Amino acid sequence: MKPLNKRVFQLLVKNTRQLNSSNVSSSVNHTIAVQERIKEKRKDALLGGGQKKIDAQHARGKLTARERIQVFCDEGTFSEYDMFMEHTCTDFGMENMKFTGDSVITGHAKVNGRPVYLFSQDFTVLGGSLSSVHARKITKIMDQALLVGAPIIGLNDSGGARIQEGIESLIGYSDICTRNVLASGFIPQISLIMGPCAGGAAYSPALTDFTFMVEDTSYLYVTGPDVIKSVTNEDVTHDELGGSKVHTTMSGVAHNSFKNDVEAILQVRNLLSYLPQSNKEPPPLRICTDPVDDDVPFLDSVIPYNASDPYDMYDIIYAIVDEKEFFEIMPRYASNIIVGFARLGGRTVGIFANQPKVAAGCLDINSSLKASRFIRFCDSFNIPLVSFVDIPGFLAGTQQEFSGIIKHGAKMLYSIFEATVPKLSVITRKAYGGGFATMSSQSDITYGWPTAEVAVMGSKGAVSVLYRGNDNMTEMENDYIKKFSNPFPAAVLGYIDDIIEPRTTRWRLIRDLELLVSKKVKLPTKKHGIIPM
Ligand code: HXC
Repeated sequence: MKPLNKRVFQLLVKNTRQLNSSNVSSSVNHTIAVQERIKEKRKDALLGGGQKKIDAQHARGKLTARERIQVFCDEGTFSEYDMFMEHTCTDFGMENMKFTGDSVITGHAKVNGRPVYLFSQDFTVLGGSLSSVHARKITKIMDQALLVGAPIIGLNDSGGARIQEGIESLIGYSDICTRNVLASGFIPQISLIMGPCAGGAAYSPALTDFTFMVEDTSYLYVTGPDVIKSVTNEDVTHDELGGSKVHTTMSGVAHNSFKNDVEAILQVRNLLSYLPQSNKEPPPLRICTDPVDDDVPFLDSVIPYNASDPYDMYDIIYAIVDEKEFFEIMPRYASNIIVGFARLGGRTVGIFANQPKVAAGCLDINSSLKASRFIRFCDSFNIPLVSFVDIPGFLAGTQQEFSGIIKHGAKMLYSIFEATVPKLSVITRKAYGGGFATMSSQSDITYGWPTAEVAVMGSKGAVSVLYRGNDNMTEMENDYIKKFSNPFPAAVLGYIDDIIEPRTTRWRLIRDLELLVSKKVKLPTKKHGIIPM
């Protein structure tokens, strides 16, 4: 190659230097500008709908979406996704109403040291309404939760489908609800309702396993009071229409309510401590500080001498479970049955128990629905079931029959007979008729206390059928009581595995659970059963 002329060489070097320095400075400037933009956008995202809206949120006694995440997650564990997404709607002047991150914050974190996926809807941005982008943020974390096998928690505060987006937002709900269904029975899904949740914002939570509400600030309805007024001309307040009292005592849509945002969030953390990450895992074991081998003498004196006197089933539950901790589900709805999570020797159990103090512990439509859903949840997530039985049967009467007690009661039969997890039963007093079948007949181990009675029905009903028209009904009834008002007829035939002193119940159940942990049941292959809906 011919050597370069010295002057040409010097010129070339000079030009190259100039060129590089201008390139460097423009790329440095570009980087600084991008970083500034990221900073700005992050700041925008942290402010949601702006300080005024945040102040309004606080004035209602509500935390912001980000504050809720902070309370919910183990410190410093929240990783946010899609902070920079913005809605894409251009109708109704929406092109000038963009908010960084749109109306939901999504990501994953740890709770009690275990991973969870979560979304927190931001009411300060367009009422937390669901745009297609909002939906995509949520479905992304749902898809990951399904891949990883970790619970999904929704902190809901949303006016439902974003009206300006039309079909796009409706499709967003279909996408979310599809995943709710896919996740059902595979990973736990918990919804906290923390504001006025309308339309799809009510339906998606209804597909999850547990829905909890915050008192006085959260509402669930298909359409809010304004829309109702315009459609039917009815005047109704948010609270009357879909407040926590309505849904925890009347409709049964919500599983419990709590006083404020912080209490509600902490209670969801507490609930998660009982649950496995997915149906592929056993529930977590916790170190038990209560004695596991000791008698509980108090139990010997709980059942009243008079067989028709009520007593409080909570006394029995709290005396038996670890550390007197019982996470009750639907405490104010259908209180004739009690359901909830507890631990025995550190293992999570699902308890369902008749409450003799309410409707004598009869099963009716609402209590059957309440218990069925709980039993199916426990069975899906490998949580052993323990029943405490004192039931005179299904509630008699035209109102129940006309409303379909047969099909609704059948849901409970279906759920308990379908369940393959370990099942333990303790008959504390009555186990009559359908009540026995539903509450304990399919258990792996059934205990009877000395006060147990297993019979087709109570003495009055039985005698009225057997000896209709007979003058000496009292004598007949006494004979019936003598025969069936004790645990022997069932024990003699092996339907009660043992008659035990009540004081020994706790340690027996703990030992049985340890034994049954390896229980395996093979069901016939099928797509799914057809529960009587
Ligand atoms: C767009 C909405 C919105 C929505 C509220 N906003 N809901 N924007 N789409 N769905 C906006 C309001 O315009 C307002 O914006 C801000 O959010 C706060 O709302 P307010 O009405 O000021 O608050 P509040 O008085 O507390 O009432 C909250 C509310 C009410 C009860 C949720 O906004 C309401 O009734 N919204 C409509 C609810 C509804 O019917 N949704 C159903 C959609 S249908 P500015 O800019 O003024 O702050 C649906 C079907 C899905 O979801 C089906 C799936 C299966």
